[in-house]
Amino acid sequence: MRLIWHAETRHPTDLDDAALADLYAFGKGPVLRANFVSTLDGAGTGPDHLTDSINTPADNRVFAVQRRLADAVVVGAGTARAEGYRRARRRDGPGPTMVVVSNSGRVPDGIRERRSGDGEAILVTCAAAPADNLAAAPEVLGAENVWVLGESEVDLTATVARLRSAGFAHLLAEGGPTLFSSLLAADLVDEVALTLVPTLVGGDLTRITHGTGLDVALRGRHLCEADGTVLGLWTVDRL
Ligand SMILES: NC(=O)c1ccc[n+]([C@@H]2O[C@H](COP(=O)([O-])OP(=O)(O)OC[C@H]3O[C@@H](n4cnc5c(N)ncnc54)[C@H](OP(=O)(O)O)[C@@H]3O)[C@@H](O)[C@H]2O)c1
Repeated sequence: MRLIWHAETRHPTDLDDAALADLYAFGKGPVLRANFVSTLDGAGTGPDHLTDSINTPADNRVFAVQRRLADAVVVGAGTARAEGYRRARRRDGPGPTMVVVSNSGRVPDGIRERRSGDGEAILVTCAAAPADNLAAAPEVLGAENVWVLGESEVDLTATVARLRSAGFAHLLAEGGPTLFSSLLAADLVDEVALTLVPTLVGGDLTRITHGTGLDVALRGRHLCEADGTVLGLWTVDRL
């Protein structure tokens, strides 16, 4: 993989693992970064409605680098269910805490199990979730890992504030499109990492945002390329 453009004028260069980690490092303060993959025709999944069918080795590499750098991964329950999310692991120990956001309060199956070496998992839900789900979640995750924030729906601003006060400064939001759009609408996203994979899939598949209209301006930070996959990082421009 090579760096092809950087806002602070680094020269084009090949990227070893250390250089890639440096490029994708979170800043010193609190940051919520979203990470997505898209085809050239804007699909956020392949025809099977999963991301595995469009991922490339370069995308997998940058996905893994960012997971290594994050304090917590924030994911919508829909993505956790569809993509079979498990708790995270790193080569050298437990991975970042997996924070699942769900109005229904239903713990995704893959998150229930805790294998040796797995990181923690937190479910963020709301008071309007069905009572049986609200009762079941603490039995699976532990009461301290079930956060009820919001009445009729999850209060995302309160969620991010609580994650930060719990020490999770660097948040990596891995989707999906519904949660991403809500985070953007609440002005909670600081950075967007996007991989463009060199394929066209047609059809009527989800984009990386979904639902409400948005108007979010971004500034470029860098672009990398490997075998036709283009990977970039943008900062949300809050004027
Ligand atoms: N291209 C990519 O990089 C990428 C990344 C992630 C996912 N995806 C794809 O996106 C598809 C899933 O899309 P999606 O929009 O359904 O994903 P999603 O946002 O992960 O899931 C929606 C579900 O998550 C929970 N949720 C989302 N936003 C919420 C909010 N603001 N407050 C409370 N709960 C919230 C709700 O769960 P409950 O129903 O439990 O209330 C909701 O039904 C899959 O096909 C997946 O493969 C693509």
